Amino acid sequence: MIPVIKSIKEVREYVKAWRKDGKSIGLVPTMGYLHEGHKSLIVRAAAENDCVIVSDFVNPTQFGPNEDFETYPRDIEKDAALCEAAGASIIFNPEPEEMYVNALTTVSVDKITKVLCGKSRPTHFDGVCTVVSKLFNIASPDRAYFGQKDAQQLCVIRKMARDLNFDIEIISCPIVREADGLAKSSRNTYLDEKERKAALCLSRSLAIGRTMIENGEHDAAAVKAAIRDEIEKEPLAKVDYVELVDTENLEAVRDCSGGILAAVAVYIGKTRLIDNFIID
Ligand code: PAF
Repeated sequence: MIPVIKSIKEVREYVKAWRKDGKSIGLVPTMGYLHEGHKSLIVRAAAENDCVIVSDFVNPTQFGPNEDFETYPRDIEKDAALCEAAGASIIFNPEPEEMYVNALTTVSVDKITKVLCGKSRPTHFDGVCTVVSKLFNIASPDRAYFGQKDAQQLCVIRKMARDLNFDIEIISCPIVREADGLAKSSRNTYLDEKERKAALCLSRSLAIGRTMIENGEHDAAAVKAAIRDEIEKEPLAKVDYVELVDTENLEAVRDCSGGILAAVAVYIGKTRLIDNFIID
């Protein structure tokens, strides 16, 4: 069975031994409760590196006070089986006390963390950047793998890695969806049957927006309105945001002819879901 490691020291021993043998290392940071989306990251990491570390850590510092840290689903045994099948070498599954001992340091990226998810989750990206920096320092990987579903997170981590000179290639992997279009997410487990059906308004509305752009619509306001209208047809849905932004600086665009990220966040009942598409 794949080793499930609790201590930073032990991960470092693996890393040191692999480096001594000239092996390359891929890191897949996760919060566990792994699904096909995570699996695709691990499979890719295993194809591109000699050794793969999957971190499996529900990071308390990226949850707001009224968010779902306590209830976030956890299942390390199932995760271990998936990691092993996908080709990971070790799992790093620390307790919060191992990661944060009287910590006084925060890694914070400005500007691009203040928009989209950052508006309704003002402390979220500080938590993400801090834990990802720590994981980069613990695992010292050659490459780190993130899903495009968290498009803003990817953009923020790329910027952080550039700004702090992490010599790590940040690799983005496509969104994995259920057969009916719902983007895979550990939070989908919160949805009851009615909400699960209602949640399809995210992917459906984005598909409408995408088709408009592909058919030549340039006006971002028109595309945004069409996406919002489709979501608002769903009685269980409440829009947090619908935005069309530049893929690099995340600033709102008026014209959708350049590289754009169309991103939505929607509450389905109490569950907040996100989805997006990118047109280069
Ligand atoms: O995307 C996630 O699951 C988390 O934000 C990450 C990158 C593992 C940091 O805790």
